[in-house]
Amino acid sequence: MVIIPITHDYLWHEHFPNEVESLKEAVGKEFENDNVGRRVSNVGGWQSQDSLHTRPEFSQLTALIEQQAQQVHEGMELVDRVKFKVCNMWANVNWPGNSNSYHQHVNPPSIDRISSTSVISGTYYVQYPENCGRLGFHAARQDYARIGLEPSVVRLPEIYYKNLKNPLIHPIVYVTPKAGDLLFWFADLMHGVEPNKNETDHRISISFNLGLEFNDA
Ligand SMILES: [Fe+2]
Repeated sequence: MVIIPITHDYLWHEHFPNEVESLKEAVGKEFENDNVGRRVSNVGGWQSQDSLHTRPEFSQLTALIEQQAQQVHEGMELVDRVKFKVCNMWANVNWPGNSNSYHQHVNPPSIDRISSTSVISGTYYVQYPENCGRLGFHAARQDYARIGLEPSVVRLPEIYYKNLKNPLIHPIVYVTPKAGDLLFWFADLMHGVEPNKNETDHRISISFNLGLEFNDA
């Protein structure tokens, strides 16, 4: 019998190393001004307020993201009347041991993404030292966090498996970014960040959501 994989998803990836230094400084200033931040998906660590796209220090990144999103627009074959616009943007700092639990950016989840606030989500990586935590994506779009379960729980308990690395039972796909990487994905895709296992260095990223608005709005 053949095994046919039936779940797949897409990531858009581009690399912009020149923006790294100025953004590191901008995130540093943001942290100095508001070191409490917000608690959202972060387990430890720090998340800034989500209005960075309105600040001059982040305007270049916002423009870059919206310019790159045109390729998503083309790829999805959307009508010319609509365009992607950054609706919110925030910085994340994960120190050793910090992680981000699994979540998605559409609330409530919707099959009709066009009617949701966020259509595309993404992250720009400002600092990514070794072993600072991979980005993980669930292979299936099921909002386990909403029902208080992790995907492995609704499958067989681990004690019944001889090999836990068997791809058939491993529903998470991991991505290891590098500083300067810009990633986009569909906003309802469940994702999380592994604990930062680098003992000395921290991980810095800037995340955002893109919504659709009319060109003539
Ligand atoms: Fe996220």
